[in-house]
Amino acid sequence: MLLWIFQDAIELFVGLSMDKMVVTGGGPLRGTVKASGAKNAALPILFSTLLAEGQHIFRNVPKLKDIESTAELLQSLGCETSWDGDLFKVNVSALQSYEASYDLVRKMRASFLCMGPMLAKYGEAVVSQPGGCAIGSRPIDLHLEGFKALGAEITQREGYVHAATKKLQGGTFLFETVTVGGTENVMMAATLAEGITVLENAAKEPEIVDLAEYLIKMGAKISGHGTSVIRIEGVRKLFPAEHTIMADRIEAGTLLIAGAITKGQVTVTNCIPSHLEALIIKLRESGFKIETTSDTMTVFPTEKWEAVDITTAPHPLFPTDLQAQFMALMAVAHGTSVISETVFENRFMHVTELCRLGADITPKTRVAVVRGVPGQLTGAPVMATDLRASASLVLAGLVASGETVVNRIYHLDRGYEKLEDKLSSLGAKIRRS
Ligand code: UD1
Repeated sequence: MLLWIFQDAIELFVGLSMDKMVVTGGGPLRGTVKASGAKNAALPILFSTLLAEGQHIFRNVPKLKDIESTAELLQSLGCETSWDGDLFKVNVSALQSYEASYDLVRKMRASFLCMGPMLAKYGEAVVSQPGGCAIGSRPIDLHLEGFKALGAEITQREGYVHAATKKLQGGTFLFETVTVGGTENVMMAATLAEGITVLENAAKEPEIVDLAEYLIKMGAKISGHGTSVIRIEGVRKLFPAEHTIMADRIEAGTLLIAGAITKGQVTVTNCIPSHLEALIIKLRESGFKIETTSDTMTVFPTEKWEAVDITTAPHPLFPTDLQAQFMALMAVAHGTSVISETVFENRFMHVTELCRLGADITPKTRVAVVRGVPGQLTGAPVMATDLRASASLVLAGLVASGETVVNRIYHLDRGYEKLEDKLSSLGAKIRRS
């Protein structure tokens, strides 16, 4: 406990001494903005390179802190990574180490996704336990149960998970809870297992589909990705390939909400609106006019919008990664909305900060009641607690009168590529200081 308080104090100090985002509330955003590649697709795909020696080439990889952390981890295992213009290359040779250290995993929980590929290819992996994080305990038990179902032996000691096997064997595994990372990790492991693996109650997120598509390009035999039952027929060897990372649906959704909350007209290009149906339905229900093509979305100016309720849940339902941003929009809606968070147990840390800007929100366990105060937010210094929380504070800052200073902006840099440049190009008054 004392250690946590100490760590938090250090993080607080580091956060305060780092970049801040200064947002001055103003008029409507207008214009066209391009979505970047999806962080949450890029991370598992970059870890999947460990399954095949040789050069892997990727397009549309976002330039983010989490990508840097992934590159650092891959390098620590003996891989070479490089940017060649807009191409991101990973050169994999026989690994020098099968161990992902605490220092690297601590920076980014998704680092645990290196375990499945290493276990499948080398029969061994030692990865630091990720530990807790701001939005909840986020266990990895289902990843480990999945590996065990494929015949791996798992032991945990001194803060590390050791996984070992002579050769993984295909099997059937039912995920007790829908888990994106768990599905990705076990799916990657199963590609080189002997025989057939069936994953039931698998996550259906578009990022799982993008990963499966890359694995298939490498020679894996996978079907059912995008549904709740994924079938993987193990192959003896995989080969490096080339891939364009899918568009970031969460970033695209955040930019659409930025247009909505400022009563502006914003078109997001290079995105996949069909990935964001749950958000688009809720925006329309609230009163916004949204038009979509196969790869663009436009929100049109709306003076007054109604409060609507949302409940987060696995895809295709409302994404937890857009809950905080939607809450900012509801904070200035007409009426009262109820926001239920069913995916993570502690994902309302942005509530107190939104309230510092004048929002009227009562958080309960996993439910927040948001009483809209249209036109009444006022700028204040606030503290970002996690990636999506930071985005919600920036969105609220866009419509709060005066200046909002968002501290601990390093959270934002983990998952949004040049957000301030994108918002500035639409007319927002936002700068880093
Ligand atoms: C991924 C996303 C994250 C998103 C989340 C849910 C990445 C890098 N991150 O995180 O942005 O918010 O999906 O859409 O893609 N759980 C268990 N046991 C496990 C694993 C998970 O109980 O072994 C629980 C979690 O505590 C949580 C739920 O399952 O309540 C969903 O978590 P999961 O889908 O695994 O999230 P991540 O993959 O960590």
